[in-house]
Amino acid sequence: MNTKNQTDTKRSSFTGKIGFVLAAAGSAVGLGNIWRFPYLAAQYGGGIFLLVYIILAVTFGFSLMVAETAIGRKTNLSAIGAFQALDKRFSWVGYLASAVPIIILPYYSVIGGWVMKYIFGFVAGEGSQMADSNFFPNYTSTTAEPLIWFFEFIAITSVIVFFGVEKGIEKVSKIMMPILIFLILFIVIYALLTMENALDGVIYYIKPDFSKFSIMTVVAAMGQMFYSMSLSMGIMITFGSYMKKDIDISKSVHQIELFDTGIAFLSGLLIVPAVFAFSGGDESALGQGPGLMFVTLPKIFNTMPAGNVIGSVFFIMVFFAALTSAISLMETVVSIFMDKAKLNRKLSCIVVFASSLLLGIPSSLGFSVWSKVKILGLQFLDLFDFISNNIMMPVAAFATCIFVGYFIKPKAIIDEVSVNGKFKEEKLFSTVIRFIAPICIVTILVSSILNVFGIIKI
Ligand code: PHE
Repeated sequence: MNTKNQTDTKRSSFTGKIGFVLAAAGSAVGLGNIWRFPYLAAQYGGGIFLLVYIILAVTFGFSLMVAETAIGRKTNLSAIGAFQALDKRFSWVGYLASAVPIIILPYYSVIGGWVMKYIFGFVAGEGSQMADSNFFPNYTSTTAEPLIWFFEFIAITSVIVFFGVEKGIEKVSKIMMPILIFLILFIVIYALLTMENALDGVIYYIKPDFSKFSIMTVVAAMGQMFYSMSLSMGIMITFGSYMKKDIDISKSVHQIELFDTGIAFLSGLLIVPAVFAFSGGDESALGQGPGLMFVTLPKIFNTMPAGNVIGSVFFIMVFFAALTSAISLMETVVSIFMDKAKLNRKLSCIVVFASSLLLGIPSSLGFSVWSKVKILGLQFLDLFDFISNNIMMPVAAFATCIFVGYFIKPKAIIDEVSVNGKFKEEKLFSTVIRFIAPICIVTILVSSILNVFGIIKI
């Protein structure tokens, strides 16, 4: 990921048609799908959240992913260089987008650490203890252990990026991903057949209840869409720069989107109905936030024969999904340090490792010794999550839309996409990029900021 290597020959590129799709899907599918999507869906009204999410993903998410990929392929540069090359006045967008993974990587690794703790818990046969509702809050409120797991997760990620052995991990996760899908399907079916009240949960999750709609539903769904599809943080631009000219951008984006949304949907179907079943239909159990997956899944595994084995396998696969995403986050940050601070690869890895460690500590301690510290009413992990997903990414996305819509013009992107055949969604693309997305983002950005500062209540 070096912005200096401008020529096709020097710049590394994906091999084969499927290379881009697999790399982008590896980055997209991660904790965002399995951990974040279900708790947001539970919190923000179930079916209505799902509906808003899908509409946003197929219009807005699609258009933005196409735009970013095409910008990368057209310029052969990663985010900062690409915006600079196309229009100097928009260089800041590249910087803003690049700052996002710097914020996400540390807290992502804190959650990766929780996943590792659960793997070892299940492997040690402690599934029934973990099924207790108090296990997760008790665990995260201890100081040292979550920090140690966080450290291990970020250390593993760093070692992989340091030695440049991502390819090996990608190979493993190619096998893991399909198994993960089948396992989720199996557990969903098992849970739905054996649990009481689960059907109420399915209805809550699938059937939109318009009375539960608020602007916060859109705020949350939009933040989730950026996060899950790895948008507005320079990653897709970099991937696009590695993409060969004979690959169909719009078709590839459709495939990534389907895969990403499919896994998020299934994860929600796994977790949301189970919350209903275990709480006896009490809706207040839905608003637990980040702990939802960690509290609910062990309960399901505990009802299953060989629950410890299934739990171990499940969390191992979640770990691999998280690892491939963390690697792509770290790769991006490392490449920024290489390009901008002119550090070599190894040194940048060390700098990124150390700074992520420092930045991640507050997110972890926010559940224990610093649980009283709140900024804007949010504890550290939620604060980092909010700033990156609900402020920085929408601003970067807005600027990208204005840039594409009114400066380089949609035609520049359409031409790039049409290199291999007709861009069927051309009209949708220009309309979304020029009008719908910018208006949507501004409304949402302003209202979510006013909400956090308590000026309006939504
Ligand atoms: N998309 C990843 C997920 O859903 C998270 C991620 C965000 C990865 C940004 C890379 C970059 O978990």
